[in-house]
Amino acid sequence: MDQTVSTSVPGPLTAPSLVVDDFMPLDFARSMRADIEAHFANPMKHHADIHQVWNYWFVPGLYTYLKTQPEKVIPHDKVERFLQALQRWSIDLLGLGGVTWPFLSLYVNGCSQGLHNDSKNGRFGFVYSLTPIERRTQGGETIVLREGDLFRRNLQSPNAGTGLYELIEPRFNRLVLFDDRMVHGVSRVSGSMDPIDARCVMHGHIEETGPLVTGALSKDAVRPGIRGALERFATGRTAIIPHFHGPIAFRFTISASGKVAQIRVLLDRVFHEQDGHGGWEPIRTSLVDSLLSGTFPLAPGETIVTLPMTFGGPVRRPGD
Ligand SMILES: [Fe+2]
Repeated sequence: MDQTVSTSVPGPLTAPSLVVDDFMPLDFARSMRADIEAHFANPMKHHADIHQVWNYWFVPGLYTYLKTQPEKVIPHDKVERFLQALQRWSIDLLGLGGVTWPFLSLYVNGCSQGLHNDSKNGRFGFVYSLTPIERRTQGGETIVLREGDLFRRNLQSPNAGTGLYELIEPRFNRLVLFDDRMVHGVSRVSGSMDPIDARCVMHGHIEETGPLVTGALSKDAVRPGIRGALERFATGRTAIIPHFHGPIAFRFTISASGKVAQIRVLLDRVFHEQDGHGGWEPIRTSLVDSLLSGTFPLAPGETIVTLPMTFGGPVRRPGD
């Protein structure tokens, strides 16, 4: 291994969920909230084209809430700005550049989401809250069940409530991310039926795109080097690789001489299909080593590559 290679910069994101408060600049978040309040103001003066836009989504025993396309309530350029900020953040932190256009959802008294997962909808679900700071409702928390086998992990001792699940309040201007394979839902909202008091969120999914390349080399120029590294990694491992599932993302720097000078694991949510299996670490090390020994063309300067990879096949959205 080259002496200049460093793998010690911040560790990968491995948590099943992530909460980011104050995600957008406060003025901007407030202006989107003002758009929502303006939409519901003056109910006696509502027009069909502007206001008859809410889909009352009711799936017995599972989903009860109202949803729409956010640009029907918040100007399109603002939704676009939010989405671009989310995409930049996601690429930087997770190495994942695919962000779906969100839904805007409203949960008044009686609304909830039953437990489910979204394993085929994305790698992470995102929920960005525009719920008011003060509201005359309770509930509406995002529920994310704890990771692992909840039965086997609690054989010896009693457990309850947030020992079994995470409960994340829909705080104004808060972004919540969770692994789409995690079982999740939304606790029932009770109290006011005024839409102004509702749990109000923009939500969607994040997934991988191809490698993101900046600097001296083009994407096409780095592809053969990546392919070669991954082929070396896969050699002799074809029997075990199919037993793993999930995304991992790397960011590495290719020096002008075509060698990998630095690599960082940004995200690691790869799991063996068997709960508690400890075999992933050495495989990840081999994957890092394979990328470190990658050879790339000579170039006038450095190139930075963000490389998401997945085990267990691509996600597919409904209808694909
Ligand atoms: Fe979901």
